Amino acid sequence: MLRGDVGLELGQRVALALRAALDVDITAEEALIRPSNRDGADYQCNVAMSLSKKVGKKPREVAELIVEHLDAADAIEAPEIAGPGFINLRLKKEWLQAQAAALLGDERLGVPVTERPRRIAIDYSSPNVAKEMHVGHLRSTIIGDAFCRLLTFAGHEVIPHNHLGDWGTPFGMLIEHLTDEGHGADHEISDLNAFYQQARQKFDNEPGFADRARRRVVLLQGGDEATLKLWHELVGESQRHFNQIYELLGIGLSVEDNYGESFYNPYLADTITELQQKGLVETSDGALCVFPPGFSNREGDRLPLIVRKSDGGYGYATTDFATVRYWVRERKVDELIYVVGNPQAQHFQMIFATSKQAGWLDDAHTAVHTGFGTILGSDGKTIRTRAGGTIKLIELLTEAVENSYKVMPETSEVEGAEKDALARTIGLGAVKYADLSNDREKDYVFTWEKMLATTGDTSVYIQYANARILSIARKVGRAAPADAALVLQEPAERDLALKLLQLPTAIQAAVDELAPHKITNYLFETATAFSTFYNNCPVATAESQELQDSRLHLLTLTSRVLTLGLSLLGIGAPERL
Ligand code: ARG
Repeated sequence: MLRGDVGLELGQRVALALRAALDVDITAEEALIRPSNRDGADYQCNVAMSLSKKVGKKPREVAELIVEHLDAADAIEAPEIAGPGFINLRLKKEWLQAQAAALLGDERLGVPVTERPRRIAIDYSSPNVAKEMHVGHLRSTIIGDAFCRLLTFAGHEVIPHNHLGDWGTPFGMLIEHLTDEGHGADHEISDLNAFYQQARQKFDNEPGFADRARRRVVLLQGGDEATLKLWHELVGESQRHFNQIYELLGIGLSVEDNYGESFYNPYLADTITELQQKGLVETSDGALCVFPPGFSNREGDRLPLIVRKSDGGYGYATTDFATVRYWVRERKVDELIYVVGNPQAQHFQMIFATSKQAGWLDDAHTAVHTGFGTILGSDGKTIRTRAGGTIKLIELLTEAVENSYKVMPETSEVEGAEKDALARTIGLGAVKYADLSNDREKDYVFTWEKMLATTGDTSVYIQYANARILSIARKVGRAAPADAALVLQEPAERDLALKLLQLPTAIQAAVDELAPHKITNYLFETATAFSTFYNNCPVATAESQELQDSRLHLLTLTSRVLTLGLSLLGIGAPERL
């Protein structure tokens, strides 16, 4: 049994009952045991409906047979069949107590390590050199970081990489502009967007500049040393801007994780040759194209991906083919995850389709594009500054930290440097949580009031719950002995224990669906269950020492669950507020 996962433990029992009753084999997961609070149940089993056809019996008959053969009297009260064939399961108090107590000694709080570890490359953040990161990059950074943490915790080998946009024709004009400006190694570009726009301006208007820029591109691609040095300078300058944001957000990406477009440059020619050898390349208007099967426009014409432009240059798609090929062939990954906004969904579907034809991806590999929506302002349009310009991420994040001072309790004893660190944990946590608690595919509205609310589905609420727990524990001034019994006397204690045991289910769902909001939902429910416990179950003034011990155990577990859950999202859990 997977320790602590009540749903799977019950699933195992249902599977055994089905084998005995109907000679069918299912896994514990396939028993479809879900948390439920209908009719006094803790869990509901929905397998009878899904098996009905297969075994040629009515769902209700299947449910009756399961109940008849179920050997679970130690764990549950007599099961009840409801509706067309749901089986309601209510845990016995003693069993629930024992399950919860078992978590105390378990470092992983009941969360199993995967039995099928995979090597997973995650492409995230991936901003463009010589441009400011925009909110799309912010989402990619936050979501990708959560994936890295989540999948690593689940037992997979994760390789994060930053697919920087650091190559291509714009670098000709950027480098020329850099030389004009006389930037040296000690110079700092304070505003990347302005720098880019100035270069663009000159390219469009200044006589001779465009020609110089074009010559520069040729020099860059030819590996000219002086040009490469200038290019490095530009990349380094941009990296400095990105790092500021990564550091503030506590994102683990470093220069070693850079696999920018330039990295794949040496692989492009071979990649195209291979596509050609496999007969996948066609010439169209002088350009080399692939036509992945199943993609056409409204007129029914096949859609191309250009792998070599008519002028001989390579494009975004060529690099992405080289990327798939590199990670699968050279780095032997089983899975590729791309955390990139929804507008690129079709691009990736096309890349994957051709990569399958080329044999780079086969049944042993998975490639997924995990898209996401945009961040909207309160007017329902893509978020902008008050003046209507694009938001600078660093300013947005600084504002988050500033605003978070306001949500600290007035009675807070935290001061000085600790207070500033706390403001960062609260403010940046709120930005991350607001992002991750929304279904990632959807757009969401960014409002400070909502994301920094101390009640409701926010990280602040969860951080408050955790700090309150630790403050109660400090007030009691002692820890419960490890062997003290856990007794679930009040309904609020029972509900809280039940929630604590559902952490593995929440994490599994988040991993399976690459959906961090499954974890935020769970954390919110757990913090809410704690809040009811807090209002009903005194700890410092508990009636007896035994009861106090038991409640201290529950508090410890709750704090550990909240802290772990937040950490998987890259959010801190301060010990006091
Ligand atoms: N730099 C790109 C952008 O800002 C994102 C790159 C995503 N990754 C990739 N392998 N194409 O839109």
